[in-house]
Amino acid sequence: MSRMRILLVSRSATVAAELEQLLRDHPVCKVSTKIVSNGHFDPLHDVSVKPDALLLHCESSLGELQYLADSPPQDRPPLIVIGPPTDPDVMRLAMRAGAADYLTSPPQRHEIVDAIDRLAARFAATESRSGELVTVVNSRGGSGASFLAANIAYGLSTADDVKTLLVDFDLQFGGLCRYFDMNPKQGIIEAVEAVEDLDEVSVETYITQHKSGMRLLAALSDTLCLANEISVSRVDMLFRMLLQHNEMVVVDLPRRVDVLGATVLESSDHILLVVQQSLSHLHDAKRMIRLITQELRVPADRITVVLNRYDKNSIIEIDDVQQALKIDRTVEIPNQYDLVTESINNGKPIIDRSRNSAVTRAIGNLRNRIRGVSDNATPQGLLQRALPSILRRSN
Ligand SMILES: Nc1ncnc2c1ncn2[C@@H]1O[C@H](COP(=O)(O)OP(=O)(O)OP(=O)(O)O)[C@@H](O)[C@H]1O
Ligand SMILES: [Mg+2]
Repeated sequence: MSRMRILLVSRSATVAAELEQLLRDHPVCKVSTKIVSNGHFDPLHDVSVKPDALLLHCESSLGELQYLADSPPQDRPPLIVIGPPTDPDVMRLAMRAGAADYLTSPPQRHEIVDAIDRLAARFAATESRSGELVTVVNSRGGSGASFLAANIAYGLSTADDVKTLLVDFDLQFGGLCRYFDMNPKQGIIEAVEAVEDLDEVSVETYITQHKSGMRLLAALSDTLCLANEISVSRVDMLFRMLLQHNEMVVVDLPRRVDVLGATVLESSDHILLVVQQSLSHLHDAKRMIRLITQELRVPADRITVVLNRYDKNSIIEIDDVQQALKIDRTVEIPNQYDLVTESINNGKPIIDRSRNSAVTRAIGNLRNRIRGVSDNATPQGLLQRALPSILRRSN
C-alpha cells in the first residue's frame, strides 16, 4: 500500500509542530505542514500535490472549516478536525465539512494515531471501490421504502444477475429479514463492531444468504442500539469494504437523518426518495431534498423520486409532484395493496409471487434506471421471442 499523504493545516506554528511531533515515524502516513496566515481560507490554496487527507487544526478561526463545509464533497479531501472541546457549532460545521473524526485540542498521541489509522484503512479501501451504493429512504413513515429496497435488491440479484448486497440500516426496528422469511443470527451492528478485523471472506459471517443467492446484512431488532453508540468512521469503513466486493449495495435507510444516515447518503450513487400522493408527503419530501442537496451537498441528479402506491385518479397528479419538488421526472410504482401485503406477509419477494404484475414490472423499470439500462429492452425482447418466427423474419 502506498503511504497516505497528510497535510496538516493550522494557524499556529507551535501547535502544528507539536502535532507533527506526535505523528513522526507513523508507518502509514507522510505529514507535511501548512501554516495559514490571513488571506485564503482554502486549506489547499497553493498546495502543489493534493494530499490524500487533511488534518485541520482550528481554534482561533473557523474560516478554513467553513470553506470546506461550503465546498462540494467531491472537491474536499478526507478530513480530521482538531478543535475546541464541547463546541456544538464547530462540531456541526466539521460534520458538514465531511470530517471523519473530531478530536479535542490538544489530542493525545493515541487519539490522533487511531484517527489516522482509520483514515488510512479507508484510503486503502477507496483506491479500489468498484460497486455502486443505492440508498432507499422514505419521505414519511410507511411509504414503502423497505418493500422497495428489498424487492429492488432481490430483482438485481436474481433477475439481473448482479452481485448485490441488501443492507438493513434501520438499526432499531429493522425487519427486512421478514420480507424473505429469513432468520439471521448476526448483522450490521456486529459487523461494525468487528470491522477492523474484517476482509472479503470474514465479512460474510455477518451476512445471511437467501436460498435464491441474494445476500442480506440484517439489523436485528432485539438489540437496542442508539445511533450515537456507533462510530461513523467504522460504518464508513464497513461500507467501503462492502462496495469493493459487491456490484450493488442497496441500503434501506430510516428517515431520521442523523450522522450515520448522513454518511450513507453522502456516499450514495443513487438515492431513491419514496413518496406518496399527499400534501404531507410532498412537504416532507421537499425538506428531505433540501437537506440532501444543500446541507449534505449531494448533487441533485443522484436523487430519484419514486411515487409509490401511485393512483392515477388521485387529485395530486404527477405534474403536481414534479412542480412541488422542482424535479423533471418521477418513477411510479402502482398501488396493489393485496398483492404487496401478501408478498410481505409470506416473506416471498413480489417477482416470485407474480412475475407480471404491474408492481413487479415497475420495480423492474426502476432497476433498469439504476443500472442505466433502457426500459424498452426487456419488453421488446419478450415480445420478439413471443412472435412466431415467420413474423419475426418479415419484420
Ligand atoms: N406499491 C404498493 N402498493 C400497495 N401497498 C404498498 C405498496 N408499497 C408498500 N405498500 C404497503 O405499505 C406498507 C408499508 O411499507 P414499508 O414497510 O415498506 O414502508 P416504509 O417506508 O419502509 O415504512 P417505515 O417508515 O415503517 O420504515 C406495506 O406493509 C405495504 O402494505
Ligand atoms: Mg421501513
